[in-house]
Amino acid sequence: MKIYAGPMEGITNYLFRGAYHRHFSGIDTFFTPFVTGTHLSKKEKRDICKENNEGMDVVVQVLSNQTDDFLSVAHIVSEEYGYSLLNLNLGCPSATVTSRKRGAGFLALPDKLEQFLDEIFERSPVDISIKTRIGMHDASGWEQILALYEKYPLTELIIHPRIRDAFYGGLPDLDAFALAYQTSRHPLCYNGNLFRKEDYDNIVSRFPNVDAVMIGRGLLINPFLPEEIKGISVPKDRLARLRDFEEDVRKSHLTYTDGGPHKVLEKMKEIWGFYCYNFENPEKLLKKIRKAQTMDAYLAVIREVFSNI
Ligand SMILES: Cc1cc2nc3c(=O)[nH]c(=O)nc-3n(C[C@H](O)[C@H](O)[C@H](O)COP(=O)(O)O)c2cc1C
Repeated sequence: MKIYAGPMEGITNYLFRGAYHRHFSGIDTFFTPFVTGTHLSKKEKRDICKENNEGMDVVVQVLSNQTDDFLSVAHIVSEEYGYSLLNLNLGCPSATVTSRKRGAGFLALPDKLEQFLDEIFERSPVDISIKTRIGMHDASGWEQILALYEKYPLTELIIHPRIRDAFYGGLPDLDAFALAYQTSRHPLCYNGNLFRKEDYDNIVSRFPNVDAVMIGRGLLINPFLPEEIKGISVPKDRLARLRDFEEDVRKSHLTYTDGGPHKVLEKMKEIWGFYCYNFENPEKLLKKIRKAQTMDAYLAVIREVFSNI
């Protein structure tokens, strides 16, 4: 079973991925947060270039509903960056994305989606995989969406079985995933709410032939999860590993991002929104971290968290 690190816009950039890769094992492939538009920004180039992703298998994700934009990015990633696969985002639930009929918003326009897929699969210089939700406002069109995906030679179909309106709440719809499991000829990847080994075991016992699972928030909520799933044992103390990872992420951002400590502090606060669940009284801890107005105040909280090592 392959384990993928899911893309998380604003969090899982190359600095995060590099730090994760240095401190934890078990991930087979990392997906980048989505790129958009016709050309790549400086930040996007930095994120995908091979020098910044050494030793990792990386798939670039693209968010688009425009054939020319998609193909332009496909040519750039293939000719300038040496990638042979692009992942298409048909799942992003953010209002700014769906209102422009991209991400999960594109699922509500099956005819346009079909035309777009016809064109990109006909002309793309790279292979294409899809990461999808099961609908926009409801899942009534899911069977039709699945049937559409059967038309194309996807390398893989990654399913986050929630409708867009659920955002990240409630439980994934395992019956919707089951429909794909029973009917799709594509290699399938399951994604959604894998936080503990039991979550993974439940998915694998119901869907033993899935090819891969993708872990998003779980990589922060429980960064040991891929090792636990694969039975990799690392002798080092868990708390020390959590400390070292936090330090690595923070220092890499301080060294390599524009914007200075204040911006890095905001990023660390976002990360702790998930990372706090590795500790006792997570909500209380998160409150303390969010209260920190300076990097020094933040560091004082962090020192206290790891004071027992
Ligand atoms: C902050 C955040 C940013 C995300 N950004 C992306 C993204 O850029 N592309 C994408 O396909 N999914 C994105 N996702 C969705 C995750 O990759 C994943 O599909 C979702 O969180 C469900 O999996 P999980 O329960 O393992 O977190 C994002 C999720 C979060 C919470």
